[in-house]
Amino acid sequence: MKANVSYSRQVSQHHRNLLKIAVVVLIPTLLPMSESLAHKGATGVIKERMETMKSVARSMKRINKALRSSSDIDRAAIKREAAAITKHAREFPQKFPVGSEGGMSEAKPEVWQNPGDFSAKSMALATAAERLSGAASTGSREELSAGFSGVGKTCGSCHRVYRMKKRNR
Ligand code: HEC
Repeated sequence: MKANVSYSRQVSQHHRNLLKIAVVVLIPTLLPMSESLAHKGATGVIKERMETMKSVARSMKRINKALRSSSDIDRAAIKREAAAITKHAREFPQKFPVGSEGGMSEAKPEVWQNPGDFSAKSMALATAAERLSGAASTGSREELSAGFSGVGKTCGSCHRVYRMKKRNR
C-alpha cells in the first residue's frame, strides 16, 4: 500500500515536471513552427537549416509524447529521436555559413559575430541529447524527464541570444 502511495506521488510529481517542461521549453520552441509557414520563400542553406530546426522540434515533440504516455515508455523512440537531434546539432555550425544572414532568416547577426559561442551552444545541445539517448534504455521516468528538460534548455539558451523574436516584416 505504502509503495503505491509513494509511486502515485512520484507519478504526479513527474507530471508536474512534464507540465513545467511544456510551459518553459516546448511552448516557446514549438509555437514558432506555425509562424514558419511564412518561411516558404526561404531558399538554399537558410531553408535547409529551417528544415533542420523543424526536424529537431518534431523529435522533441515525439520524445515529449513518449514521456507522457501512461503505459510503458517507448524507449526506442526516445533513443532514436535523441540520437537524431545529436546528429543535427553537430551540423548546426556548418548550416550557418558566413554571408547567409538576412532575407527570410531569423538568425541574428550575433551568430556570425560569436561563431565560437554559437558552436559551443550547438555542441551543448548535441551533448544533452546524447546523454538522453544514453539514458533511454534504463533510465527512470524521472531521469528521462530531467534529461529531456536539459535538452530543451539548450534550445532556449541558443534562441535567446541568436534568434530574432520576430522577423521585421
Ligand atoms: C546553437 C543555436 C541553436 C540551438 C541549440 C537550437 N536552435 Fe533552433 N534556431 C536557431 C537559429 C539561429 C534559428 C533561426 C534560423 C534562421 O531563421 O535562419 C532557429 C530556428 C528554429 C526554428 C524555426 C525554424 C523555421 O522554420 O524558421 C525552430 C522550430 C527551432 N529553431 C527549434 C529548435 C529546437 C526544438 C531546438 C532544440 C532541440 C533548437 N531549435 C536548438 C538556433 C538554435
